[in-house]
Amino acid sequence: MAHLASTLDELDTKQREELGEQLRGEGVVIRTYDLWKTYIMGDQEIHAVSGVDIEIKRGEYVAIMGPSGSGKSTLMNLIGCLDTPTKGLYYLNGKLASEMEDDELARIRNKEIGFVFQTFNLLARATALHNVELPLIYAGISSQERLERARQALQAVDLEPRMQHKPNELSGGQRQRVAIARALVNRPSILLADEPTGALDSATGNEIMGLFERLHLEGNTIVLVTHEADVAMHAHRIIHIRDGKVERDEVTRPQARNSV
Ligand SMILES: Nc1ncnc2c1ncn2[C@@H]1O[C@H](COP(=O)(O)OP(=O)(O)O)[C@@H](O)[C@H]1O
Ligand SMILES: [Mg+2]
Repeated sequence: MAHLASTLDELDTKQREELGEQLRGEGVVIRTYDLWKTYIMGDQEIHAVSGVDIEIKRGEYVAIMGPSGSGKSTLMNLIGCLDTPTKGLYYLNGKLASEMEDDELARIRNKEIGFVFQTFNLLARATALHNVELPLIYAGISSQERLERARQALQAVDLEPRMQHKPNELSGGQRQRVAIARALVNRPSILLADEPTGALDSATGNEIMGLFERLHLEGNTIVLVTHEADVAMHAHRIIHIRDGKVERDEVTRPQARNSV
């Protein structure tokens, strides 16, 4: 594959599709080839992500760790299909996301990715249940099925008894669990979390990390973005990022379950 990266620009459309099929067959959910994101600031070029090659398989629990400004959020936005790279290829579940137009990107994002953010991003006026239901409304699911699935997702994070509560009637940890239920309700291929414990005290943060561990054991693929080593240690593999590059890719402990 390393050899391939240098000749990727020469692949025609059919070869790119075949490569996607091959990755999918191998259970690769995320694969980037020489991925770049460059921002132009005045006459300065900032390479926020510069030549990243990452492969993540189904069922993995991976932390992307690096200091502030190292490019974590930019990389997460690329992986999460919120942004497109300046250069390079990105395959999500065998589909070449780096070549997609906005509407197609929005569709694959809704289908394949569940986001969890530091600040929860819940609708303040809506109940926990309605917050979790929202992605299903966008996906065009009938109201009865929506209700059932939202309830199940809240059950999976132990919040069913609080489902009629609004965010301001919930603790920080409970709000984050609502956000995690919302991220899971579409049964995405990956759960993508950017500093999910950043706004929580350490006891509550540990409780959320325990929940991620359980979701991983249940078969979810998790990518966790953090600058904190003790948060990253919960993952089974840590990709260290510095200056927009992969500095080190470290397996911290063996997978608890078979990854495919
Ligand atoms: N929209 C943007 N425009 C210009 N520069 C940006 C933009 N977003 C991020 N950067 C720069 O890219 C680098 C990486 O930022 P970021 O991905 O936010 O890092 P991290 O999440 O690791 O703190 C930083 O130098 C930052 O200033
Ligand atoms: Mg960041």
